[in-house]
Amino acid sequence: MILPNYNEAKKRTKSEVLREEYIINDDLKKIGEGKTYFVKTYGCQMNEHDTENIKAMLEEMGFIENDDYKNSDLIILNTCSIRENAHNKAFGMLGRIKHLKEERKDIIVGLCGCMAQEEGVVNRILEKYKWVNFVFGTHNIHRLPFILKDSLDSNNTEVEVYSKEGNIVEGLPVKRQHSYKAYVNIMYGCDKFCTYCIVPFTRGKQRSRNKDDIINEVIDLKNKGYMEVTLLGQNVNAYGKDLDTNYGMEDLLRDVSLTGIPRVRFMTSHPWDFTDSMIDVISKYDNIMPSIHLPVQSGSSRILKLMGRRYTKEEYLKLFNTIKEKIPNVSISTDIIVGFPKEEEEDFLETLDLVEKCKYDNAFTFIFSKREGTAACKLEDNTDIKEKEKRLYRLNDIVNKYFLENNKRLVGTKVSVLVEGRAQGRKNGLFGYTDTNKLINFDGDDSLIGKIISVEVVDAKTWSLDGKYEG
Ligand code: SAH
Ligand code: SF4
Ligand code: F3S
Repeated sequence: MILPNYNEAKKRTKSEVLREEYIINDDLKKIGEGKTYFVKTYGCQMNEHDTENIKAMLEEMGFIENDDYKNSDLIILNTCSIRENAHNKAFGMLGRIKHLKEERKDIIVGLCGCMAQEEGVVNRILEKYKWVNFVFGTHNIHRLPFILKDSLDSNNTEVEVYSKEGNIVEGLPVKRQHSYKAYVNIMYGCDKFCTYCIVPFTRGKQRSRNKDDIINEVIDLKNKGYMEVTLLGQNVNAYGKDLDTNYGMEDLLRDVSLTGIPRVRFMTSHPWDFTDSMIDVISKYDNIMPSIHLPVQSGSSRILKLMGRRYTKEEYLKLFNTIKEKIPNVSISTDIIVGFPKEEEEDFLETLDLVEKCKYDNAFTFIFSKREGTAACKLEDNTDIKEKEKRLYRLNDIVNKYFLENNKRLVGTKVSVLVEGRAQGRKNGLFGYTDTNKLINFDGDDSLIGKIISVEVVDAKTWSLDGKYEG
């Protein structure tokens, strides 16, 4: 049993990142024969992409995917730690699986993802959820076949969670969830340690993949007919800073663009590492989409300082305005936390003021959630939850108003759309995303799926557009 260790997880040393290749032994390839699996994914795109690797490994072992957990032989929960409610959801699901396991003792249950990296969670599993068969962390996804095998040979919960800074494993198989767009990891982990955030603990030290591995993956995707890649990392603008190569995010964006893949996206951008040369590259290359996720978290410089975000409201606005000026028609989205410890009404009003200035195209808004082990966990917090909820409603009213306003401005224009598939519930309905990452619904035939086409916007809603396609 290898248990998570928080003290180890927050260490950062200069030790070199180990790079290894995924391997699977032939004797592991028969374990799943005749059995079905179900993976439930919580959290961010990083987790979604990990699930794509997990599914492919399971299929290499002979398991077949099933979309109902109730009659699957293997159930894996790929969990998220970012806020308390992510925890609650996963534990709620474990509760439902417990009933199932009382009826069908032979089902195998595993838990992985960010919650597996938390000491408290694993202790709770070992005490109260002894029937869970195995737990593995974010650093050793590639070990799944071995861990699964060991758990089948054992009556106890197999736990293998590393809290080291992390290595890079290449060559994992992948079962992609979309047919035309793909996630490509460019870096793992995070060294920013924003005071509210658990990610540096659950995902380890920042480590960038080698550029050739990334470019080759994109070329391969392009050759297979993929139309879009999203370059993934917790803080993609810092790409390469941990390598000795003097090759940064602007170089990578340029080289990924030069592969000729029709659409390039990237997320998430921390404002701190966003350079002017990155902005220039984005505006220069047409296949880099004019859509940027630029989390601000708060509009109060005092709170930003307590959050450890390393920029002021004014610095953020300066960057925001430069991006808007230099990249025509760019859409910018953000993340905002309300109710951070010590946030007063006047701080919150600064956030509303910032939102009025930025008029975001999209925003994900959250109430601060205390995460065990983070620095903000120790800050005194005097605001009650009712007040925090009120702030969230007030904020949402304003951000929603601007989503709609921005969408309405597009009515009557033509937008470029990657058609992803059939929209549910509407005969002949298709859906896709614009270059600015807005969902658009319109009518058309199957031959359009997987193509990038021009669609006229005829109506705007808060979270989507309606379009008309005329061949
Ligand atoms: N790496 C990304 C963020 C990943 S987490 C970045 O730096 O932008 C996604 C979002 O969750 C964050 O932007 C933040 O708004 C929110 N979040 C993170 N920790 C939180 C917490 N403890 N409580 C509430 N929201 C949180
Ligand atoms: Fe968390 Fe900050 Fe790292 Fe984003 S940059 S993952 S918010 S610590
Ligand atoms: Fe959640 Fe881990 Fe992503 S905490 S948001 S799944 S990195």
